[in-house]
Amino acid sequence: MRRQLTRREFVRNAAVGSAALSAMSSVGAPAVMAAPSDKPARLGGPKAHTGGWPGWPEWRQEWEGEILKVLRSGNWYRGGGGGKVAEFEAAYAKLLGAKGCLATASGTTALITSLHTMGVDAGDEVITSPYTFIATYNVILMLKALPVFADTDPATLTMDPASIESRITERTRAILPVHIYGLPCDMDPINAIAKKHNLAVIEDACQAWMAEYDGRMCGTLGDLGCFSFQNSKHIPSGEGGAVTGNDENLLDRANAFHNCGRATGSFQGSGCFTRGTNFRMQHYQGAMLVQQIDKLVQDTKIRRENADYLTAHLKEIPGITPVRLPANSKAVWHLYPVRYDAQQFKGLPRQAFINALHAEGIPCGGGYHEQYFDGIFDEATASRGFKRLFSEQRLKANRDSFQELAGNRQVCDTTVAFYQSMLLAPRSDMDHIIHAVRKVQANSEALAKSV
Ligand SMILES: Cc1ncc(COP(=O)(O)O)c(C=O)c1O
Repeated sequence: MRRQLTRREFVRNAAVGSAALSAMSSVGAPAVMAAPSDKPARLGGPKAHTGGWPGWPEWRQEWEGEILKVLRSGNWYRGGGGGKVAEFEAAYAKLLGAKGCLATASGTTALITSLHTMGVDAGDEVITSPYTFIATYNVILMLKALPVFADTDPATLTMDPASIESRITERTRAILPVHIYGLPCDMDPINAIAKKHNLAVIEDACQAWMAEYDGRMCGTLGDLGCFSFQNSKHIPSGEGGAVTGNDENLLDRANAFHNCGRATGSFQGSGCFTRGTNFRMQHYQGAMLVQQIDKLVQDTKIRRENADYLTAHLKEIPGITPVRLPANSKAVWHLYPVRYDAQQFKGLPRQAFINALHAEGIPCGGGYHEQYFDGIFDEATASRGFKRLFSEQRLKANRDSFQELAGNRQVCDTTVAFYQSMLLAPRSDMDHIIHAVRKVQANSEALAKSV
C-alpha cells in the first residue's frame, strides 16, 4: 500500500530551497500557457520551476535581543504572571478581536484545556471533523470521550453542517469543528445546531490564525477557540498554543485548569485547587511569538494574494477544482488545496499527478487519509476504560458509521495540496505552479501510459 506522508513530513518536504522573497505585485499578470507540445519533466522535458522555494520556519536576527533578555532575567516561568507570555496573550487577543487569550504549551494542550473547561467528561461524545490532524481525535480520546465524526463537505473540505444532527445522542456534549488548512468552517449553522441541542462549540483553529468568517476571526466564533504555534505553523515557537474566547469566566476556568487547578480571577473553584494540570507556556515561547505578530499579518496578506491568483488560474484547468469558502470568509491557507479529478486527466492516478508535479519542481502532497481506519480507534476503545464507559454496541455502531463518511472519503482520495511557504514566493513562481499543472494536463495521456 502507498505510504501517506505524515503532516510533519508533509511540511518538512515543503521547506525546500531558500529562494529569497522578492517584492510582490498584486496585479494579476497572465500565467504562462502550456502548449500540448511542452514536454513534462517526467517524460524528459524541462522543469517548470528550477529555483528553490521559501524555507520554513523563518527567523529574524532582531528577535535575538528579546530572547536574550528572557535568558538573563532568570524569570523563565510564567507562573507569577506578567512577562512575555502575558504580553503575547494581550497582543494575540487584540489581533483576533477576542476578549481574552490564554497561552498554553501546545495546540493539543489548548484543546484538552478547552474540552475540560466546557465540561467534556469521561463517557461523553464529541462530534468533530474526520479531516484533521490526528491530535483532534487524540484530545477527545485522552479525556475518555468518544469522537463521533460528522462528514466532510467535498466542496469546502470542512465539517458539513447538514451531517451533524443525525449524530447527536444523549451523551453528546460538544461540537469540535476544525478550520483545516486555515479554511473557515461554516460556523452559523454549526452554532445554531449547538444552541438548539445545548452543546458547547470548541473551534480547532490550530491551522487558522487570522482566518475570517463573516467579519470575525476564527477562534472567536464558538465558546472557546484553540491555536497551535508548533514549528510548521504560520506563527511558530517550536511548540506553543492558545485558548481564545469572549467569556471571562470560561477563560479563568481554562487558566485554572492549565495552571495545576489554581483558583483564578472569577473562578475560585472550592477556594484553592480544582482539577488541573501543568500546560503552561514559557517566556521564551512568548518572546518568539510577540515578535512574529506583524510578520503573521504581512505573510497572511501575501499568502491570500497568491492563493487568489492560483485559484483564478487553476480553476480554468479541466479536472482541478479549488475549494469553496463560506460567504464573507477569508482563508489563511496553511495548505493550498485543490481537488483532482483523474478522469479529466485521462485516468492519470492522483499519486502519478503528484509525482509529475514533483518532477516539475513543484512540491505538493495528498493531504490527510482515512485515519480512523488506522487502528487508533480499535486500540483506544479496546482499553479497559472505554469498555467501562461505553457499551460494546455503541462502540461498534460508531466504528461502523465511519463507512458512511462518503464526503470525507472523496476528499481523502482526491485532494492535492501545495504548502504554505510556497505561497510566500514571488508571483512568477505561482506562474510556474500553474504552468506545471497545465503541462501535466496537456500531456496526461502520455503520462498515464508511462505509469
Ligand atoms: C488541526 C490541528 N489540531 C491540533 C493540532 C495540535 O497542535 P500541536 O501540534 O501544537 O499540539 C494541530 C497541529 O499540530 C493541528 O493542525
